[in-house]
Amino acid sequence: MCGIVGYIGNEQAAPILLEGLSKLEYRGYDSAGVAVCDGNSVAIEKAVGKLLNLSDKISGGDALKGTKGIGHTRWATHGKPTKANAHPHFSERFIIVHNGIIENEEALRHHYLKDTEFLSDTDTEVIAHLLQKFTDSGETTPVAIQHIISELEGSYALAIIDKNEPDLLYAVKNKSPLLIGHGDDFNMIGSDAMAMISKTSQFYEINDKEYAILSCKGVEIYTGYGQKIERDTYKAELDVSDTEKGTYPHYMLKEIEEQPAVIRRILKEYSKNTGELEIDTKIIEDIRACDKIYIVACGTSYHAGIVGKQLIEHIANVPTEACIASEFVYNMPLLSKKPMFIFISQSGETADCRAVLVKVKEMGFKTLTITNVNGSTLSREADHTLLLYAGPEIAVASTKAYTAQIAVLALLASQIKNTININLNYELSKVSNVIEALCTDRDKYSLLARDYLTGARNCFYIGRALDYYVCLEASLKLKEISYIQTEGFAAGELKHGTIALIENNTPVISIISQENINLNTRSNIKEVKSRGAHVLTISTKSLSSQKDNIIVNDVHEMLTPLVMVVPAQYLAYYAALQKGCDIDKPRNLAKSVTVE
Ligand code: F6R
Repeated sequence: MCGIVGYIGNEQAAPILLEGLSKLEYRGYDSAGVAVCDGNSVAIEKAVGKLLNLSDKISGGDALKGTKGIGHTRWATHGKPTKANAHPHFSERFIIVHNGIIENEEALRHHYLKDTEFLSDTDTEVIAHLLQKFTDSGETTPVAIQHIISELEGSYALAIIDKNEPDLLYAVKNKSPLLIGHGDDFNMIGSDAMAMISKTSQFYEINDKEYAILSCKGVEIYTGYGQKIERDTYKAELDVSDTEKGTYPHYMLKEIEEQPAVIRRILKEYSKNTGELEIDTKIIEDIRACDKIYIVACGTSYHAGIVGKQLIEHIANVPTEACIASEFVYNMPLLSKKPMFIFISQSGETADCRAVLVKVKEMGFKTLTITNVNGSTLSREADHTLLLYAGPEIAVASTKAYTAQIAVLALLASQIKNTININLNYELSKVSNVIEALCTDRDKYSLLARDYLTGARNCFYIGRALDYYVCLEASLKLKEISYIQTEGFAAGELKHGTIALIENNTPVISIISQENINLNTRSNIKEVKSRGAHVLTISTKSLSSQKDNIIVNDVHEMLTPLVMVVPAQYLAYYAALQKGCDIDKPRNLAKSVTVE
C-alpha cells in the first residue's frame, strides 16, 4: 500500500526520493509524486501509473533542485487513481504525504473546513488544511501537529514540509508503518527500512501517536502531547543486495527458488551450538500454560496458519484454531478460558491482524507474532516474536514467506511437545533438498502452464486434508497473478455443488500427498474427468500413478505442504508470464496491507 519517503540533508533530494520510492514499489501503487524544497520554494510533481512516469517527468530527479523533500507512491483508497488525487497534497503552508485512512474526515471537514476549497477527493488534503487552520489561529507547527493527533481518527503515517521551516521536516505516525532513518549529516523518513537501506542502516522506531522533527543533524521524537522522548537508534540487519533481482527476470521466480536456502537458514537460526533446535523458553512456557491457541492471519499467511493448526494439534497435541483476522476482529468466537494468540504476517504490518492484536492485548491475553520483518508493528507490539529469516519478499505474491511460516510453525509445534517424535532437523533438511530438486524443472512447469492454464477462463484445485489447504494457497497464487478465476476445493465437496461448473476442458489440478485419503481423491479425479475436465495431477512419489504430471519426492507426511506448493507456485508464475501479466505487481494488489 502507499509508500512514504522523506529526506533532509546536503545531497540533492529528488534522486534519493525516487530511489527510496522504487524500493517501496513492491507494496503496490497506482500513482506517485514528490515535493522538493529549495529554501522557501517547493516544487511538486506527480504522475499516474509507474514510478518511471514520474522519474521521466523530472529527469530522474535532476529537474528538481533542493536538499529536502518528501515522496509518495499511492494505492487509491479515497478517490480514483488520478493525478489530482496523487500525493503530495498541500495547503498554503504545508505539503504532506500520507499512508492510511482518516475515518472521521467527513466530520473534520464539516467542523473545521466548511469554506475550504479542495483540489482532490482525498482524506489527506483535509490534514494539510487542518494544519493550516491551526497554525493560522496562532499555534506553532509542533502544537498544530499535537492538535491533529488529538483530532484524527484512523491510521496515518505522515511526512510534512512546513514552508516556513526550510531546515526541518516532520513525521507523524498512528497505526500505519513509519521509520526514521538516521545518518551523519542527513535524516530520512520511510515506510520501511528498505526504502532507506542504501543510505543508512540506523533507524529510530516511532510509535503510535508520536511525531518527530528532523533536521540535517538530528532527530527529536515527541509524544502526541509534546513530551520529548529519549530513544536510541537500532541497526537493521538488511543487506542491500537482498533487495535486488540479480539475474532473475522477476522477484517471484527468485523468491520461489530461494525456498531451499530459506528452510536451511531457519534450521541454522533456530539451532543451538549443539545442533539441536530450540525456541525461546519463555514462548514455550506461555504456550504450554494456555488451553487453546488461536492463529490469526490473512491471505497466504492464513493459509500457512491452517497448516500450522494441523501441525500444532498433530505434533504438540494442543487444541488450535486458525482464524481470518478481518473476520475475527468484528466477529470473535467464544474464546477458551486461557487462550494464546499467534499472529502470522510476512510484513508484520497488516492492519487486520493489528486490529485483533490490539483487542486481545486489551483483554490481557498472551501474544506471539511470527513475521519476516524484525521491528515491524506486529513484532513490536506482541509479547513475543519468532522471525522467518526469509530475507525481503518483494513480489506481491507471497511464496518463500509461506514455506518459511510453515517451517517455523512446525518447529514451534515440535518444541511445545513432540508427541510423534518427529526429527525436524532431518525432516526439514530433506524438505529443502526436495524443493531444490523441484526447482530444476522450470521447463516442465512452463509447458504444463501453457497446456492447461494459459488459455483457460477458470480453474479448480482439488485435494483433501493437508492437500486441500495447499489447494487454497495454490488457487490464490494462480488467481492473483494470472487473473484466471481459480478456486481451491476440498475434493469430497465437489459432488455437493461445485461439480456443476465442470465443463469440457475445464482445468482441474489435483494434489495428492496424504496416504489415508489418496484413493478418495483419485475417485474424485475420475468424477471430474468423466465430465470433461482436463486434469493435471501433482502427487508424491509413493502415492503416484504413472500418468501423473508432476511427481514430488516424499517428505514427512505432515510437511508435504512445503513441497506440494512449489509446483503450484511455478504454474502460477508461468501462466502469468505467458499471459503477459505484471507478475511482481499484480493489478489492484498491495504487498503490505496497512488499512483494514
Ligand atoms: C498473497 C499475499 C497476501 C498476504 C496477506 C497478508 O500472495 O501475499 O495474501 O499473505 O496480505 O500479508 P502479511 O503476511 O504481510 O500479513
